[in-house]
Amino acid sequence: MLHGKRVLLIVTGGIAAFKSLDLIRRLRERGASVRCVLTEAGAKFVTPLSLQALTEEKVYSDMFSLTDESEMGHIQLSRDADLLVVAPATANILARMAAGMADDLAATVLLATDKPVLAAPAMNVRMWTHAATVANVETLKKRGVTFVGPNEGAMACNEFGPGRMSEPLEIVAAIEALLTSEKPLAGRRALVTSGPTREALDPVRYISNHSSGKQGHAIAHALARLGADVTLVSGPVVVPDPAGVRVVRVDSADQMLAACLAAGAVDVAVCAAAVADWKAAKPATAKIKKKTGAQPPALELAPNPDILATLSKPGAKRPGLVVGFAAETEEVVANAIEKRTRKGCDWIVANDVSPAKGTFGGERNTVHLISAKGVEDWPTLAKEEVALRLAGRIALHFGQPPKAQAAE
Ligand code: C5P
Repeated sequence: MLHGKRVLLIVTGGIAAFKSLDLIRRLRERGASVRCVLTEAGAKFVTPLSLQALTEEKVYSDMFSLTDESEMGHIQLSRDADLLVVAPATANILARMAAGMADDLAATVLLATDKPVLAAPAMNVRMWTHAATVANVETLKKRGVTFVGPNEGAMACNEFGPGRMSEPLEIVAAIEALLTSEKPLAGRRALVTSGPTREALDPVRYISNHSSGKQGHAIAHALARLGADVTLVSGPVVVPDPAGVRVVRVDSADQMLAACLAAGAVDVAVCAAAVADWKAAKPATAKIKKKTGAQPPALELAPNPDILATLSKPGAKRPGLVVGFAAETEEVVANAIEKRTRKGCDWIVANDVSPAKGTFGGERNTVHLISAKGVEDWPTLAKEEVALRLAGRIALHFGQPPKAQAAE
C-alpha cells in the first residue's frame, strides 16, 4: 500500500524512540522508503547506526555539517519526502514546531516543509495535559498537522494516563490514510452527530453526560478524508473542530434533531452523539432557588426525541445508510442487536462504556460492528483508527463514487 512512498521520519528524544525502530521495519515491509532525522536528544535513546541499518539510508542530525548539507540540505530532505512523521514527538518538539523555531535540523526541516506532517506524541501524562502542550497541539492541528495518539496506559515513568506513543501499526495506519489519494466517498454527503447534549433545568443548571465527542469527531474527520461532504452536528465539547468538516454547534437534543433535519438529504448518517434521553419537562426560566429547610425540588422529566430513530424512519428522505452507536455497560452485543432492530438503523457500533474500560473521554475504544449480516468484533484501537475503519467500511458499502458510476 505504501509502495514507492518516501517517509522522512524525525526521531526526537523520548523513551518511545525504540518503537520507531519497529515503525521503520513496518513501513519498509509495505514498500515505503524511510530516511531519518535524529535529534541530539533522540540520539540518547536510539543510535544513528540502528536507524541507518534499518533504513539503509544515511541518518541526518547536524544542521551545520558541510557533508550533510552538500549531500542533502535541509530543504532537500523535505522536498524528497511525501510525508514527514515525527515519532516520538516530545512536548519540546511540539512547542518548537508551534513557535516556528528553527534551532536544529529537525525543527528547521519541519519549518521548511510544505509536505503533510504527522506527529505521534509521547510524553509524561502531565506534560501532555499541561495547558502549554494543549495550546501547542491545537495550534498545530489548525495549521494542518495530523496527530496519531497518544494512547492511554502505563508509562515508563511509572504513571498511568494519556502519553504513550501510539503503537507502530497504528502509526502505519495513519500514514496510509494520509498518503492515500483515493477519495472513495467523493460526491457523497454525510451527517455525523457527536458529543453529549445539555438539557437545561434552569438558566444555570443542566443534565448532561461524560461524552467527549472524540469518537464522533474522529468519524467526521475520517469520512471527510475519504472525500465525503460532511456536516458534523456537535453538542458542547472541548475537542477541536476536525479539519475539512462543516460544524454545527448545538446544546440540547431538540436543537440537535433540528440541525440534523436542516442538514438536508445525506447518503450516510452516523449518530455517535450521547443524546440525553430526558429533558426537564418544564425548564425554569429563572434560577431555581434553594430554600433553607425546604425539600429539594422534584424534577419532572420528559423524553427527548430519538434522533437516530427519526433519521432511520423509512421514506424517500432516509439516508442510504444509517449507523447508530450503542454505549452499554453490560450484555454489550445482545443489547446492541436488539437496539438495531428497535431503532431501525442499518448498522450499530457497540461499545462497552463501563468505567473500567475508560472509553468515555479516553483515547481507545473496543467496538463490535453489528449489521444484518451479523457481528464483527474489532480489536481495541485508537478512536482515530476505529473511525478510519468505519469510514472505510462505509466507503465499501457504497462502492464506487457516484461520479464514477455515472461515467460507466
Ligand atoms: O437509546 P440509546 O441512547 O442507547 O441509543 C444510542 C444510539 O441512539 C446512538 O447512536 C445515539 O446517538 C442515538 N440516540 C439519538 N437520540 C436519542 C438517543 C439516542 O440519536 N435521543
